[in-house]
Amino acid sequence: MNNVKLIKHPLIEHKLTILRDVKTQPFQFRMLIDEISYLMMFEATRDLALREVDITTPVTKTKGHKLATKVMICPILRAALGMLDSVFKLMPDASVGFLGFQRNEETAKAEFFYAKLPSDYANRTAIIIDPMFATGGTAIDAVKFLKDKGVRDIKFISIIAAPEGLKRFSEVYPDVAVYTAAIDECLNDKNYIVPGLGDAGDRVFNTN
Ligand code: URA
Repeated sequence: MNNVKLIKHPLIEHKLTILRDVKTQPFQFRMLIDEISYLMMFEATRDLALREVDITTPVTKTKGHKLATKVMICPILRAALGMLDSVFKLMPDASVGFLGFQRNEETAKAEFFYAKLPSDYANRTAIIIDPMFATGGTAIDAVKFLKDKGVRDIKFISIIAAPEGLKRFSEVYPDVAVYTAAIDECLNDKNYIVPGLGDAGDRVFNTN
């Protein structure tokens, strides 16, 4: 699975451990999701293209580099909203394209219900964000949705992933890089990641 990039960093591991803890309250949970996403972005954006620009400092004229890549951040509703602020903070010129998938509790499968993309989506690099990469089903559907619309360059950022989901996804889309901060043990019979952190959306939004 060459497309899977495990981002290991002491700060991320420390924060992830507090994030997983059942005693961590929603306020701190949101803060940690934000901080971990921010740290992961550093690695996940490493290969974005730059263009040379002329600038004038208070001392002299010189050349610098700015991002040449137009980015579309695609949060998968709703848990990814917890990651959006930090990603947007790092790339304030990016556009946001929302993708709505909702878990059907009877089938444990995610069902598509909503999309709102910027008009020039096809010319943008899509960075899909979703904190939990479980069965890979939603990830496959989200990538298929964007590819069918003509988006060519797609990355996926997820905080915790299950090996089953990564394997399934990578067989279908070996060309799409998946960045994750943890590859956990497995899925349970309800398709929750083990050890995981429970329902990320519920913990971000303090619902159950
Ligand atoms: N979604 C979650 O929020 N948690 C899981 O463990 C799996 C999917």
